[in-house]
Amino acid sequence: MKELKSNIVKAILKKLDMVKPDHGFHAGELIQYLEYPPDDKMGDLAFPCFRLSKALRKAPPMIAASLAEDFLCEGIAKAEAAGPYLNFRIDRAAFFKRLYGDITGSDRPYGSKTDGEGKTVVLDYSSPNVAKPFHIGHLGTTVIGHSLKKMHEFAGYKCIGVNHLGDWGTQFGKLTVAYRKWGDKEAVEEKGIDELVRLYVRFHEEAKERPELEDEARAAFTSLEHGDPEITALWRWFIDISITEYKKTYKQLDIEFDYYTGESFYTDKMPAVVEELKEKGLLTLDDGASIVDLEQYGMPPCLILKRDGSTLYPTRDIAAAIYRKNTFDFDKCIYVTSAGQCLHFAQWFKVLELMGREWYKDLVHVPYGTVSLNGEKLATRTGNVVLLKDLFAEAIEKAADIMKEKNPELAGKHEVAEAVGVGAVVFYYLSSNRMRDINFVLEDALNFDGNTGPYAQYTYARTCAIIKKAEQTEEAFTEQNDDEFALTKTLALFPETFDAALSAYEPSLITRYALDLCAAFNRFYHNCKVLTAEDEQTKAQRIALVKCTNKVLASALELICVKHPEKI
Ligand code: ARG
Repeated sequence: MKELKSNIVKAILKKLDMVKPDHGFHAGELIQYLEYPPDDKMGDLAFPCFRLSKALRKAPPMIAASLAEDFLCEGIAKAEAAGPYLNFRIDRAAFFKRLYGDITGSDRPYGSKTDGEGKTVVLDYSSPNVAKPFHIGHLGTTVIGHSLKKMHEFAGYKCIGVNHLGDWGTQFGKLTVAYRKWGDKEAVEEKGIDELVRLYVRFHEEAKERPELEDEARAAFTSLEHGDPEITALWRWFIDISITEYKKTYKQLDIEFDYYTGESFYTDKMPAVVEELKEKGLLTLDDGASIVDLEQYGMPPCLILKRDGSTLYPTRDIAAAIYRKNTFDFDKCIYVTSAGQCLHFAQWFKVLELMGREWYKDLVHVPYGTVSLNGEKLATRTGNVVLLKDLFAEAIEKAADIMKEKNPELAGKHEVAEAVGVGAVVFYYLSSNRMRDINFVLEDALNFDGNTGPYAQYTYARTCAIIKKAEQTEEAFTEQNDDEFALTKTLALFPETFDAALSAYEPSLITRYALDLCAAFNRFYHNCKVLTAEDEQTKAQRIALVKCTNKVLASALELICVKHPEKI
């Protein structure tokens, strides 16, 4: 569709040049004005003439009428004026022929790009806090982050995924104290994170009655900072146990990180930052703490050192950004976190700017809204959390039950149930704009008849089944009926949908596109016989449409981290 749009605009410009050579319009502007009419009956594309009116000193309907006269453009069967609009009809058979070539004829997937070639993007996402639960609040950063990674790869960038684990901070003091008081090695080895979280929650309960526990925890963390070997070993152990478990969840999502460089990794890289801030006169003392004053930028100060000289979350982020720039020479570094951290990122991005790091402009914070489950808010400290792994396990179990009913004979049942269950959760999550607060209802996510992951996967499996049954036929591109052409047009929208999703950091545009594609395909499939079509030509064309749907739907699902088994 992108190519056709640019052909139309060229043709319009040619006509404008004839009537008024100094009209001052250019292709980049006019292409923005092209619209998809709300009703297919009006046309496939429309060009509103309002904005030409002033420069041409003519009423829009007159402009439309004069442009329509002898309008010539490759790929356009008819151009017709309707009031202030110039409506276009696409030459259906030619359009599909070309599209089929684009979708099936190249090594690179349709819609993918080379814009990013030679450029590197670092993506910082998921990043749970060790010793605290990996709960459904992390679903957003994990799946939006990974999907952005896939999207950048699709656009040709080299991508580096970093898990900026929260592996440093006072919670380790708390955990150490709790472990020493109530913990037990076997239990931690056996139950892993669950046991660590149990200890962490117990700490908070007991500390309500005995506030002195907090002092003990602080002291323990200070010992860790000073390298106390016993506490350091415990700390390392807590982290290893946690990473092993995170990896199980990541595996279900097909996620692999290039680095697990958590916050502690930057400990020895922070003194240089503090030094530089001092040298550049950016550090001020505030009640014993060191801060960068950001008042003139309308923000509270960025905290660099606590009164006791220990570093803070922003200090580590600044050191990490400098390290990444030096190490990977990124063109862009993307951070995906909840919207609650917007100020944090705005603050330390500003500090880097003040430090004179021009590349602060290449740092991008991608925030997202909150998640509740069945209408309930979740909180870590009270233990009212739903772990991501439990949510996935429940989804997989439910998916398996549904599938047992639908298709009891299916081979590889467990893997498919995992793909369907986990896919349902991810798809549901990525259906809404990322800034929207989401209420998660598992039954809705798993509804095979709703606008869900299973529905999209089921549609994909249907295309696979048809392709498998179809004997190799010659390709044919005949005049298309309305259902065939509606599907063709939807397929052709994939590249521009991808562009929009990439530039807005918005995977949900792709999820919703996948639903549109499934809807167009299922309407087509319902109304048009494929394997038993009227004649060979029609059959060949329809099989070609199924093949295109199969490829594009696979790409869309892969971009949003949803697996697509061939059979469900
Ligand atoms: N561990 C943090 C949290 O769970 C997220 C880290 C995000 N990345 C960063 N570079 N600050 O809130």
